[in-house]
Amino acid sequence: MFMGKIKTLSLKLEDQKLFILDQTLLPHKELWVEVLSPEQMCDIIVQLKVRGAPLIGVAAGLSLALYAIGGATENEYLKACERLRSTRPTAVNLMWVIDQLIKAATTAYNPEELFNMAVQFCQEDIELCQKIAQAGAELIKDGDQILTHCNTGGLATAGVGTALGVIAEAHRQGKKIHVYVDETRPLLQGARLTTWELEKLNIPYTLICDNMAAHLMSLGKITKAIVGADRIATNGDFANKIGTYTVALSCHYHNIPFYVAAPYTTIDFSCSRGEQIEIELRSPAEVLGVHGAFESVIWSPKTANTYNPAFDVTPAKLVTSWVIDRGVFTSPTF
Ligand code: MRU
Repeated sequence: MFMGKIKTLSLKLEDQKLFILDQTLLPHKELWVEVLSPEQMCDIIVQLKVRGAPLIGVAAGLSLALYAIGGATENEYLKACERLRSTRPTAVNLMWVIDQLIKAATTAYNPEELFNMAVQFCQEDIELCQKIAQAGAELIKDGDQILTHCNTGGLATAGVGTALGVIAEAHRQGKKIHVYVDETRPLLQGARLTTWELEKLNIPYTLICDNMAAHLMSLGKITKAIVGADRIATNGDFANKIGTYTVALSCHYHNIPFYVAAPYTTIDFSCSRGEQIEIELRSPAEVLGVHGAFESVIWSPKTANTYNPAFDVTPAKLVTSWVIDRGVFTSPTF
């Protein structure tokens, strides 16, 4: 059984104890929380303390495997799998990990084997991110001013990230780039998390409100956009953080290349079109105001009617290229 340590930007495994960095408190507070059960991991995922499609899968897998080696019966383990599988319906990496852990357990319930598999998912994600970063950095040129949406870096994966990993690799290669960061309402993953990562990476950036991107494009301030994905259909349509579709439409109008970066584990080979992707709906509270380490503010009437889809679907025809660990695809022939 794997006895080593795992340490990523927001996940730690030490002596078979799992810790996560509470992302709801970033950037003002860095609090590591021990995860003691899959039930607690469900709450952590629903509250977005752990988030980003690849990281959700990895974190869920590790909590299930620890539950199994901690003495859970096969029945208890399978129930926990089902419960975790339903926490975030759009992020397909979660289902990808859990389905494999269910299949392995129902073939032969071997907790040590499940633990090794969960560690392997984590290690594989690190490798996939590296490959995406290498492939995608080829697309970035000296002087590029790159728009990104949401957070797709080391806080969203076990590795260097997807879209943000590409940006970081281009910077590491010495390309002079500038990043425009969409704040990403309602939960501000851009304003709180991507900025935090870019500060650490020393990459020059400018934070903008989501509704400013098209204006910047009209001024010639954005030369490329790159985003991540929560689920990619086989025809190339993909779901990502709400607001991504608007970025893609604006890029299309202004003739700006629009890239999506993701590991193959984000491609749902059972989903042929974007309309088939279930979109997670979230609480009205997230639209009525903001909540974080900076306290809670509700700026709307508490009774205001709200609608809060966490993701939207960008049609394949708006995508210039799909940057996958297997290479850069200009058509969805993954
Ligand atoms: O709701 P979130 O913060 O989990 O949404 C995250 C995104 O939309 C990311 O772009 C996506 O998961 C890819 S992360 C590598």
